Amino acid sequence: MCGIVGYIGYRNVVDVIFRGLTNLEYRGYDSAGIALRDEGKIKIFKSLGKLGNLKEELINHKSNLVNPIAGIGHIRWATHGSPSLVNAHPHTCTCGKLTVVHNGIIENYKVLREELIKKGCEFRSQTDTETIAHLVANEYSNTKDLELAIRNAVQKLQGAYAICVMHKDVPDVIIGARKHAPMLVGVGENENFIASDTPAIIEYTKKAIYLDDNEIAIVTKDSIKITDINGNTINKKVEILPWEPVALSKLGYKHFMLKEIHEQPDIIRNILNGKIYDIDSPVVLNEVKIDIETLKKLNKIQIIACGTSLHAAMIGKYLIEDFAGIAVDVEPSSEYIYRKTTTDASTLVIGVSQSGETADTITAIKQAKEKGSHILIITNRPDSNMARMANSLIPVNAGIEVSVAATKSYTAQLISFYLLALHLAEIKGAMDKNVIKNIKHELIQLPIKIEEILSNTSTIQECAKNFSSFKNFIYIARGINLATAFEGALKLKEISYINATGYAAGELKHGPIAMLDETMPVLSILVPGGITYEKILSNSEEAKARNAKLIALTSSSDPNIDKLFDVVIRIPHVSEILSPAICCVPLQLLAYYIAEFLGKDVDQPRNLAKSVTVE
Ligand code: M6R
Repeated sequence: MCGIVGYIGYRNVVDVIFRGLTNLEYRGYDSAGIALRDEGKIKIFKSLGKLGNLKEELINHKSNLVNPIAGIGHIRWATHGSPSLVNAHPHTCTCGKLTVVHNGIIENYKVLREELIKKGCEFRSQTDTETIAHLVANEYSNTKDLELAIRNAVQKLQGAYAICVMHKDVPDVIIGARKHAPMLVGVGENENFIASDTPAIIEYTKKAIYLDDNEIAIVTKDSIKITDINGNTINKKVEILPWEPVALSKLGYKHFMLKEIHEQPDIIRNILNGKIYDIDSPVVLNEVKIDIETLKKLNKIQIIACGTSLHAAMIGKYLIEDFAGIAVDVEPSSEYIYRKTTTDASTLVIGVSQSGETADTITAIKQAKEKGSHILIITNRPDSNMARMANSLIPVNAGIEVSVAATKSYTAQLISFYLLALHLAEIKGAMDKNVIKNIKHELIQLPIKIEEILSNTSTIQECAKNFSSFKNFIYIARGINLATAFEGALKLKEISYINATGYAAGELKHGPIAMLDETMPVLSILVPGGITYEKILSNSEEAKARNAKLIALTSSSDPNIDKLFDVVIRIPHVSEILSPAICCVPLQLLAYYIAEFLGKDVDQPRNLAKSVTVE
């Protein structure tokens, strides 16, 4: 949730670290800071709020800077200690010579802090991170070897960390280390980088080394040494980063979210390309590394995920059960972790995550791995921690998603689930061949239909304007679109801060109906021809009878719909089974335009972060 950028090289150090932090901004933060090695000194600047404030701080103190040759920067999302200047990173040891930035949480920091205070260390902040600064400095005063000091210190840390360290007395080097938090080293010529995520460095290099847990990177401007926790040198592969810098540009859209919504048709085309050659041939999903005989016998799947990915997982369950007849459990990762599950070696466990770094899902996957399950990861980040834990990896290829609210990655996850469910159905011979053909045909048509929605958003914009003053919303659906209702409501909540809840339409009368009146609009997802269409219509009438304002999301041309509903958002027709992949788009747009109309910070909603690396 925080971001780290370290740089050593020939470029303007402040600019490189700023660009890097700016490209990590989307992850969310409340304060920022930078430590620079300049004239043999360590100079630190911090600010609260947006990065622009840190820039101003630096401009105000420009005369204090001569020619920085290395630096470490950080954007913080408070976990221990409120957002404040004193709690902002970088943190230093008592004498100020050693400075550190940190992502993650040190669980035993209180014990360590007490021990260090007894040794004479003076603490200034309430953070767990400051403990690391004192701990490493303490080891350094014993060993006079920064690399060894870091190795010794990190062995005393419990919890998660990605750290980047500089020491005044050890010139020309920045050192990174990690455990349970991502970190990579960007490889350049006469320059090198340390960062917590790829976007921080892609403007400068496409080559990177991903650190694994318990590894340490000793980085100078012309050398990179990676060691394990015992100091043994490790030969790591230099990987080519899968992103282009253009992914970080809005390309003329007002917000990244809008740009990302509009990217969805092409993303679907790209995913299908190479997976469905023609509707008569089987889906090609070589990413699933389970032998055919095992797949044929597979009868239990568990899917774990959080937030939007959880909603994709709920639809995935529906598809796999419907197409392949395999029983699927779906559970939020944060719940899975704390109960006795029936996961065993015969269970296929699927982890779904846009970022591939969500701590709850990583912990859940680890637990499943320990039970011997085959781990299939569906993620937008093939370079992530989760991807590295996978036995099978389905990269969803949505391209980098900058807006905190997930949109294109969700659709890409859904398409991956369609392909997986079809693949399993084909292997098991569980589905009528003509039905499979129809689904493939409809999948191929999806991008055109989504383009149709995107080409005329006037009804959605009008609806957003007219409904933006409501404080509460209910979204109803049944069957496969229940998760679509959850997702639509989540989108509205997270970017507009309006209270929106998704309900199974049939559940309305069992309690929530009590809330209905003219202040509570109800949005119904109605797919004509679907098995739940008539029932949802009746549930909508029940809401109308309680004076609720009604919005329909439907492809129906029935004029009675126009009579019953106050607003009808019409979409092109698709069969019910395919409808989640198209219904999500107008709901994303509705949330977007409401938030935009209310003047909210669409791409960086308050309190949220793009990747949630704490449990
Ligand atoms: O990266 P992940 O998909 O694992 O993240 C899970 C959730 O934190 C994420 O989907 C969150 O709900 C988004 N803000 C949704 O827009």
